[in-house]
Amino acid sequence: ITGDAAAGEKVFRKCKACHAVGPDAKPKAGPVLNGIVGRVAGSIEGFGYSDAMVAAGADEGVIWSPESLDAFLLKPKEFVEGTKMSFAGLRKEDDRVNLIAYLASFETE
Ligand code: HEM
Repeated sequence: ITGDAAAGEKVFRKCKACHAVGPDAKPKAGPVLNGIVGRVAGSIEGFGYSDAMVAAGADEGVIWSPESLDAFLLKPKEFVEGTKMSFAGLRKEDDRVNLIAYLASFETE
């Protein structure tokens, strides 16, 4: 992970309406993102994912690596067709790289 996590924390403001990270994180409209880097897509027990997100992980084998996260965060609805994540995407590569570095700093609790 080569991004700047401190800069990524600022980018994460765009995600906070729907996602939380850190020791006290709770699910919102979107799942908690602790430990997301390295996890199978759509795999948090008990979260109400779309069928598309569950299938991405369970059937297509998507694992949230820095590369797959980068592609998803650029164009969520193209990377996982049918996702219910209502977010247009992050056009700036630097923003994506820094955000992924920030996310990588949170382990699964
Ligand atoms: C799913 C990241 C913005 C709502 C996800 C997943 C990731 C992610 C990695 C997959 C989780 C998994 O497989 O366990 C982000 C990041 C954001 C962002 C980094 C900001 C750049 C948002 C926003 C919303 C949202 C603004 C709400 C308007 C959701 C929902 C899901 C999801 C509902 C589940 C999607 C599904 O089941 O199809 N997000 N997200 N996200 N996110 Fe986001």
